[in-house]
Amino acid sequence: MSKRKLRGAALGDEITAIVREIVARHPDAPARTLARRVVEESNGAVTLEQARSRVRSTLGVHGADDRRQSTQKHLHRPIRPAGQRIAMPPSQAEPWLPFDLGITGRVGILSDIHVPYHDETALKAAVDHLQAEKVDALLLNGDWADFYSISRHEKNPKLRNFRNELAAGRDLLKWLRQEFPGIRFVAKLGNHEERWASWLWQHAPEISDDPIMGIDNWYGFNNLGIELVGDKRIILAGALPILHGHEKGNGISSPVNQARGAFMRLHHTVLEGHGHRTSTHSEPDMMGSETVCFSTGCLCDMRPAYARLNKWNHGAAVVAVHADRSFDVENFRIQAGKVRQS
Ligand SMILES: [Fe+2]
Ligand SMILES: [Fe+2]
Repeated sequence: MSKRKLRGAALGDEITAIVREIVARHPDAPARTLARRVVEESNGAVTLEQARSRVRSTLGVHGADDRRQSTQKHLHRPIRPAGQRIAMPPSQAEPWLPFDLGITGRVGILSDIHVPYHDETALKAAVDHLQAEKVDALLLNGDWADFYSISRHEKNPKLRNFRNELAAGRDLLKWLRQEFPGIRFVAKLGNHEERWASWLWQHAPEISDDPIMGIDNWYGFNNLGIELVGDKRIILAGALPILHGHEKGNGISSPVNQARGAFMRLHHTVLEGHGHRTSTHSEPDMMGSETVCFSTGCLCDMRPAYARLNKWNHGAAVVAVHADRSFDVENFRIQAGKVRQS
């Protein structure tokens, strides 16, 4: 064999290897697309037609004899009978369904506690009121923890102690469970708790989806009998949908009346937190049915460093759910440790 022929054979082997590797990597791509990749990766050593012929042979669609003699049958594509149509690829979207509390009775709703930057007086007043109302279930409607230490915002290093923040969060949940023994206890992730998952994705992506790394595990939800609701799911108390408020994304920011802002975005009855303000907005439609939106106050420090001046107020809510799923909302404010009705 001449030197030139040897080079040719070696080049042929190399192209064969390239074709097989590309076919193995992209088994479902069209032959012409794969051929283009072969031309590219072989630096133009073969023409597009030559590459396509090799790709088709490797896929086993170059005629029955070629298919029979192939030594790479594992790379073959199933032969489609003439006239067979390609099916639509299955959707990988996952269903996003509401979390129905399935409760008839009174649901106490505490939102935006932001531990360890909670307001002790306001939180105590809210808990006392919920106890007096004999609630049958407790819902922490997001931002129960602040997660200041792992926020992406600029941070004061003096305040940055994640271990202490986690400990304070655990103590808060233990205290709440002690104050409300034996009743249903549900906690929803707000934008502040979602910092946990974002932080894990950034710092420990390989183990971020291990259940042991879940926020519920770190806070001991199992031992305390707390149910976690994440994924921005809507919570249903009877016919009343409840959101933390961050699920809507940004759009109408800081509306004068938060409940009206919610109505403008959702056009549906809803109760939400997140805005740290108590408000209500009701609007009848042409046929006389009424949509009512509620926003609840917060239970955190009212003068945090990042928002010294704001329009927040303290507050919480009790939702009475009736057997026919209709409901009544008591959306109360708290001033200087006293419950005030709106
Ligand atoms: Fe909040
Ligand atoms: Fe929030």
